[in-house]
Amino acid sequence: MSVHKKQDVKKITTHQLQEMKNRGEKIAMLTAYDYSMAKIIDGAGMDIILVGDSASNVMAGNETTLPITLDQMIYHASSVVKAVQRALVVVDLPFGSYQGSSGEALRSAIRIMKESGAHAVKLEGGSEIIDSVERILKAGIPVMGHLGLTPQSIYKFGTYSVRAKEEAEANKLKNDALQLQEAGCFGLVLEKIPAILGKEVKEKLYIPVIGIGAGPDVDGQVLVMQDMLGITQEFKPRFLRRYADVFSVATQAVTQYIADVKAKDFPNKDEMY
Ligand code: KIV
Repeated sequence: MSVHKKQDVKKITTHQLQEMKNRGEKIAMLTAYDYSMAKIIDGAGMDIILVGDSASNVMAGNETTLPITLDQMIYHASSVVKAVQRALVVVDLPFGSYQGSSGEALRSAIRIMKESGAHAVKLEGGSEIIDSVERILKAGIPVMGHLGLTPQSIYKFGTYSVRAKEEAEANKLKNDALQLQEAGCFGLVLEKIPAILGKEVKEKLYIPVIGIGAGPDVDGQVLVMQDMLGITQEFKPRFLRRYADVFSVATQAVTQYIADVKAKDFPNKDEMY
């Protein structure tokens, strides 16, 4: 096993992500919300770790991403940052922390950067939040955009179904993507849109475009860690590939532990002082 000292590891920067797009190397991005999982994900060689507001669902058990607070996002982000040596750590600005005004957005972004040590923030939306994006960028904070299915607007959409299937919404999305790029975003997430639109946006933009349910012809992919590891059971959209069945493995281990305790098999003579 190779153990890196902090200074041995070449950190991923927004410039390197841009170079990856330029040379056609796909970018791998995954969520993390705590120290232990972030250590595994970073050690495996992930390019971007997203401290997503999906923590609201998978960590706190909420139905939507809306309830999670800025303080809670900072708590998750600072746990992740402590584990990471290589990946770029991007943190979601949670619902209600940036929609009020560009001043509020800047204050929230500064709190995330100062209190967690993360490297960048992500905001959902296009033209409606462009003032906030510009203000945060002017402060020297890298910003990632997020278009398509934007879960913080779930009550406006009404469903989690595929976005931008109609021409008008697809045109707005393309326009928003260009505005975010022009404002200076270093990258863009596209969630749950037709693959053909994902390809079009990736080809139109020079900045990296990362997809989740946006097809293969984008610059990289992002998934929620609990979903791809098979920890969440009930969530199975078409775009999700499960790489493990951690729910079953963990259930088996916990069941065995209970049985061993009840049977007075644990601890044995080698497991005591
Ligand atoms: O919060 C999140 O996990 C996200 C990803 C789905 C892109 O925004």
